[in-house]
Amino acid sequence: MSQLSVQSDSFTASEVATEVKQLKDKISKADIDYHQHDNPSLTDQEYDELKVRLRDIETQYPNLMTPDSPTQLVGAPTAEGFKKAQHSRSMLSLDNAFNLGDVEEFLIRIRRFLGMEKSEPLELVSEPKIDGLSLSLNYQDGQLVQAVTRGDGTIGEVVTANVQTIADIPRDVTGEISGRLEIRGEVYMSHADFEKLNQSQLAKEERTFANPRNAAAGSLRQLDPKVTAVRPLRFFAHGWGRVDPPLGETQLAVIKNIAKLGFAINPHIKTCQDIKAISDEFQRIEKMRAALGYDIDGVVIKVNSLALQRRLGNSSTAPRWAIAIKFPAETAWTILNAIEIQVGRTGALSPVARLEPITVGGVVVSNATLHNEDYIKGIGSDGAPIREGRDLRIGDRVKIYRAGDVIPKVADVDLSVRPSEAKAYEFPTHCPVCNAPAVRPEGDAVRRCTAEFTCPSQQLEKLKHFVSRPALNFDGLGDKIVEQFFADGLLQEPADIFLLEDIFKTKNIELKEREGWGEKSARQLFAEIQAKKTVPFARLIFGLGIRHVGEVVAERLARHFVNWPSLVKAIDEFAESCGHSEHELVAIEGIGEKIAEALHQAFVHPIFRQSMERLIQQVTIVPHEVDTDSTNPLASMTIVFTGTFEQMTRAEAKARSESLGARISSSVSSKTSMVVAGAKAGSKARKAEELGVPVITEDEWLQMLENQGAV
Ligand code: IVH
Repeated sequence: MSQLSVQSDSFTASEVATEVKQLKDKISKADIDYHQHDNPSLTDQEYDELKVRLRDIETQYPNLMTPDSPTQLVGAPTAEGFKKAQHSRSMLSLDNAFNLGDVEEFLIRIRRFLGMEKSEPLELVSEPKIDGLSLSLNYQDGQLVQAVTRGDGTIGEVVTANVQTIADIPRDVTGEISGRLEIRGEVYMSHADFEKLNQSQLAKEERTFANPRNAAAGSLRQLDPKVTAVRPLRFFAHGWGRVDPPLGETQLAVIKNIAKLGFAINPHIKTCQDIKAISDEFQRIEKMRAALGYDIDGVVIKVNSLALQRRLGNSSTAPRWAIAIKFPAETAWTILNAIEIQVGRTGALSPVARLEPITVGGVVVSNATLHNEDYIKGIGSDGAPIREGRDLRIGDRVKIYRAGDVIPKVADVDLSVRPSEAKAYEFPTHCPVCNAPAVRPEGDAVRRCTAEFTCPSQQLEKLKHFVSRPALNFDGLGDKIVEQFFADGLLQEPADIFLLEDIFKTKNIELKEREGWGEKSARQLFAEIQAKKTVPFARLIFGLGIRHVGEVVAERLARHFVNWPSLVKAIDEFAESCGHSEHELVAIEGIGEKIAEALHQAFVHPIFRQSMERLIQQVTIVPHEVDTDSTNPLASMTIVFTGTFEQMTRAEAKARSESLGARISSSVSSKTSMVVAGAKAGSKARKAEELGVPVITEDEWLQMLENQGAV
């Protein structure tokens, strides 16, 4: 069957679609038989042939390819780990609020975004924030076909067999719903079950868990589903991904319908009409917290109307329509044993507190961040005193706090027990690693090592960043290994990673003979390095570790420039234009002068430049995927919005266009595809006319979206 090629003109579109469905069904059934029933129904060859056929068709008809297609599963099911799968829509995180003021700001932001008056009602839903692990459950025609952990939000681990042992999750909602259904929620363990599990682990002389969340994670991620089956995991549904038939028009209606399908939902979900109701509900849940019998770490507030949720959309990391109000942090007192300075990827000297280990909220803490030199002195980022101006000294008794999964911080110091010999801490003025001067520019809280590309610590941290998950995501090349190779002089800069096999050969080193390595692991590492030679453009840009260039900025640059030469050309031109604020680079939405300047600073540095040239020779960059979906009206367009808008705010107009594949720019050039001009549009509309760039009105723009079925 694998010999068959797809002849596009000999099939009608519906015949092809039918075949795709049949192939997917057969593959899914074979997956279930193999992974969940331990009872393979196809030979490996038959299975592979189905997949090859499906992949061939998908290559020919990309519009038939869906993210949940069996061909989109990456990695293979091996005893060493879980198969991985891509989420149909990213699993986002939530923005946090720590007090009512933050919630008020959240409501103001929403109203501003939607152009709503303060007096207009805005219904919200409040529910406990479960301290567990998020999970995506995918049903096809009522059958649970795949359960995937959050992973990095884009790709997670397939834990279907394990999830089938959780009683709160129906395996089958047949008869209730057809097509696709994706339910999202939280896997957790109750306090009682956690205690019992730890007791039985102790009795078996096996490891115990620090808290219910860790126990739930450890139990879900068991390679043997039989182990998961005897671990009492539970689940609360709190959201959904793709759902074919809509389940309702409000958050609450959909959640209730999800409960009707047989999923457990939290019993403490309430609607709130205003900030007062939110505050009351938060206090009510907080009072109940200890008696709930499971861990929660706050309350989530969501906009109830799904129409409004859709209009609000997401930022790159979190929905704009929800926020988590966190409970106050847990605290504990301990001794500050030492202050150490770490030198980061961009040279920042970051002080770290080494503490006498102490349990804070179920987790043992032995380090805490001290941010910067002012923080140690008792001065906050705005120059105002913190801890009433009390400084921190080695030997002090300090109060540690930890909120959720955030890095522990030092909240206070007890001066009454300060040792008489304790001296004020002197922050180093030189890099503790390379001894280069460490400077702190006026108005900046951070002191930085000035040997940007030669300081060993900066080099090492840049390498670790390059291989890290959001960057090139090297499996099997973790921090410890990078540190080791770096210390042994085998790696210095990113390009070396791809030359590692040659470097070993030249130095006459056999990796498999080094401690901790074997034939198989060495082979796997080299295979992984080969595989990572093909790198998506945005990940590469992020991986370079340039100051201010995080994932979002990298994504924007990749989207705008599409390929490496165009990016480099723009950065070089920016330098030549003496940082002109009208320059293409600065005009990209969300880029600006600070980032352009950081890019320029890096690219003019001969060491960086040379290391880039070496790197580029080693890798194949996959140009940023331009959204060429013909149903997507704004794909590959660069749009400038100007003037005042009436039917939606400019922020909403921009966010919506971005989500439809457009690039947004703040200045008009010959590369602009169109200018959408609201009322009182001025110089930008004039410039567009001069350049012959189409200028359309807000109404015409909305009409355009409507014609294409995008609204
Ligand atoms: S709504 C982000 N509701 O908290 C998409 N999330 O810190 C909307 N979580 O990854 C999530 N309880 O897994 C929502 N009642 C609840 C939740 C909840 C726990 C998790 C969720 C998310 C994480 C963000």
